[in-house]
Amino acid sequence: MRAPSKVNLTLAVGPRRPDGYHDLQTLFCALSLGDELTATPAPDLSVRVTGEGAGHVPTDERNLAVRAARALAEHAGVPARARLDIRKGIPVAGGMAGGSADAAAALVACDALWGTRVGRDALHDLAAGLGSDVPFALLGGLALGTGRGELLEPVPAAPVTYHWALALAPEGLSTPAVFAELDRQRDSGRVPGSVASPEPVLTALRAGDPVALGRALVNDLQPAALALRPALRGPLEAGLALGALGAVVSGSGPTVALLARDAADAEELAAGLTRDGVCAAVRTATGPVPGVAVLDGGAF
Ligand code: C5P
Repeated sequence: MRAPSKVNLTLAVGPRRPDGYHDLQTLFCALSLGDELTATPAPDLSVRVTGEGAGHVPTDERNLAVRAARALAEHAGVPARARLDIRKGIPVAGGMAGGSADAAAALVACDALWGTRVGRDALHDLAAGLGSDVPFALLGGLALGTGRGELLEPVPAAPVTYHWALALAPEGLSTPAVFAELDRQRDSGRVPGSVASPEPVLTALRAGDPVALGRALVNDLQPAALALRPALRGPLEAGLALGALGAVVSGSGPTVALLARDAADAEELAAGLTRDGVCAAVRTATGPVPGVAVLDGGAF
């Protein structure tokens, strides 16, 4: 399976709920920077992880792909027997839903491997139980997410592919820590309530206008991510100085997403960011792309 990463084009965070989560209203865009996952028959359940930041991914029962396989096995009443091989392309703890992508890929892969065929609704419910971003990794494309982010509605948009440069940080950020920092900032009156309206982005997407989209990118978590990692000002400011149409922290960070005019512009932005030395690594990506999909067609 190939599983996409995501960037939040808008991310509005509501107040903290009694269950500790926050109500969100977010526009997800699936990106081509992805992970690959293969499930093969095995006597028990195990996972191997290679590629980008693999050393930081747990390979025991905490691994989100392992939890996904176990959840599917339990739901379908079959033994959890598979070897999962994950090749990471998505930065680990980067705000791009890499763990969620692996969980979504594991659900689809094991459903095919075990012949359980639980159907789309059950896959969605299992995904929502695993994490707020997992249902979107299944769906892909462009979608408005509400609730914890798990209630999804596809978004009407002109058929335009957008080009991005992604500035990767040397170290990840903890999502709960970033949400907690936002709560602290709001409690102390340092930041207002939500400022992230999706309307300007929805208008830009309907028109297929990358300039308007760049101007409209907004993320309520950005001030909190910046408070915890002030160095993120580097890629945000350098990207805009290099001519990016827009710059925003992706999800809870620390990856910074820079919107480019076209593919050549994205490459130039990436080269400029590398020259300026404002981030640990740079990738380019396009979006929207589909959700989890079979890579080689062999599994079906
Ligand atoms: O759902 P997921 O496990 O990805 O969320 C990770 C953490 O991010 C949660 O434990 C919570 O602290 C925070 N979060 C939140 N509100 C959301 C989504 C995530 O507070 N809607």
